[in-house]
Amino acid sequence: MSEIAKKTQVVIVGGGPAGSLLALLLHLQGVESVVIELRSRDHVLGRVRAGVIEYGSGATLREAGLAGRMDREGFVHDGVNLAFNDQLLHIDFKRLTGKHVIIYGQTQLQRDLYDAIDTAGITLVDEAEGVDLHDVDGGSPRVTFVHDGIEREISCDYIAGCDGVHSATRDHIPDSVRQRFERLYPFVWVGLLSETPPVRDELIYANHPDGFALCSMRNENLSRYYVQGSAEDTTDDWPDDRFWETLKARLPRAVSDRLVTGPSVEKLVTPLRSWVSEPLRHGRLFLAGDAAHIVPPTGAKGLNLAISDVVYLADALAGFYATGHETGLEEYSDRALSRVWKAVRFSWWMTSTMHRFPGMSNDFDRRLQKTELEYLFSSENGQRSMAENYVGLPL
Ligand code: FAD
Ligand code: PHB
Repeated sequence: MSEIAKKTQVVIVGGGPAGSLLALLLHLQGVESVVIELRSRDHVLGRVRAGVIEYGSGATLREAGLAGRMDREGFVHDGVNLAFNDQLLHIDFKRLTGKHVIIYGQTQLQRDLYDAIDTAGITLVDEAEGVDLHDVDGGSPRVTFVHDGIEREISCDYIAGCDGVHSATRDHIPDSVRQRFERLYPFVWVGLLSETPPVRDELIYANHPDGFALCSMRNENLSRYYVQGSAEDTTDDWPDDRFWETLKARLPRAVSDRLVTGPSVEKLVTPLRSWVSEPLRHGRLFLAGDAAHIVPPTGAKGLNLAISDVVYLADALAGFYATGHETGLEEYSDRALSRVWKAVRFSWWMTSTMHRFPGMSNDFDRRLQKTELEYLFSSENGQRSMAENYVGLPL
C-alpha cells in the first residue's frame, strides 16, 4: 500500500463491493479517493455472500474493465426455476426479456476489485480502527482512524459511507433528518456450501408447505443451498444431515432424486429483513449499499443495489469535479432510492410468495400465496414481470 495521503477528494469508508467499486469508478473519471476498511482483506474475502450478478451490473463491471475473470469463469444463466406442488416452472429470461444473469460469487468479485485497486494505485487502508467522521455538514470534512497504532486524519471534499449493515457513518445523519422503513420476516435462511455438483444447471427457488428452499451454485463442483429455518435457529441447530434431509424434502421428487450431498465447507444463518434509511445524503456525506438499505436475499438484489448506488454516486461526484455544480449530488439520494425501492418491492414480493409464514396453515395468506404461484405458472405476463425484475431494472 502506498503512503496514506493527508488530503484527498473523497474518503470512502468501507472496502466491500460498494466502497471498492466506487473507488475504481471515481478513478476512471479522474477523481481521487482513499478507502478505509475495518477488516483485513482475508476477512473480507472469507465472507461467502451473493452469487447472482444482474445483467446491468455485469455491463457496468465490463465497462469499468473489471469483468475479465467474470466473463471467463462466471456462468451465464438464461433463466431460473420456481418449484411448487412438486412441479417446476422455468422462467425463461432470454425469451421474456432478451437478458440474463451471471452466476459469479461476491468473493471472486471482491478479489477482482482488490486486484484492480492495486493496479490503479488506489490507497485502500485495511484493519483501520476507530474510524470517525468530523464536520460532515460543514466546510472542512475529515475522517480520523488508527492504523498500525498510529492516529491518522484525512481531510476531503466528500465522504462516502459504504460501511455495510452496521454502518457507523449512517449515525452521522441526525435523527431529526433520518427516516427508517423496516419489515422483519419471522424466519432465517440456513446456507450451506458443499463441494458437490449443483443439482441443476439453473437456480431453483422452492415453495414447500414446510418452508422455502433454494438451490444455487458457484461452479461445477461447488453448490450453494439454503433452507428456511426458525427465527431463533443457529448453525448448531443445523447439522449437515438435518440440512440435507430438509432440503430434499422441500424439492420436487425429480430434483431431489438427483441431489448429490457431501460435507459442508461453510454454513451460515442469515436473518431476513427489508430496511431503508432515507435520505442518502447529509451535508458532505453520502450513503451507498448495505449502509443505506437491506433487502432479504430472496431476490438476489443486495449486491446489485450496492453496484447501482455507486454508479449513480460516482457519476454525481465526477459531474461535480467536471463542472463545479452540485446538481448531480443533490439528485443522488432520490435517484438511487427510486431504484432501491423497486428492488425492495421485488424482494418483499418474492419473500412473501416463496416462504412459509408462522401460523400460515390453511388460511387466507396461504391461499393467496398458492394463487400467486398458480397465476405465475399460467401467465406469461406474470413471468415476464418476474423476469424483468430478476435480471434487474435498467439503471
Ligand atoms: P458490505 O459487503 O457489508 O461491505 C461493507 C464493508 O464495510 C465491510 O467490508 C466492512 O468490514 C466495512 N466496515 C464496516 N464498518 C466499518 C467501519 N466502521 N469502518 C470501516 N469499514 C467498515 N446480494 C445480491 O445481489 N445477490 C445475491 O445473490 C445475494 N445473496 C446473499 C446471500 C447472503 C447469505 C447474504 C448475507 C447476502 C447476500 N446478498 C446478495 C447481499 C450482498 O452480499 C450485500 O448486499 C453486499 O455485500 C453489500 O455490499 P456493501 O459493500 O454495501 O456492504
Ligand atoms: C447464492 O448463490 O448465494 C444466492 C443465489 C440467489 C439468491 C440468494 C443467494 O437469491
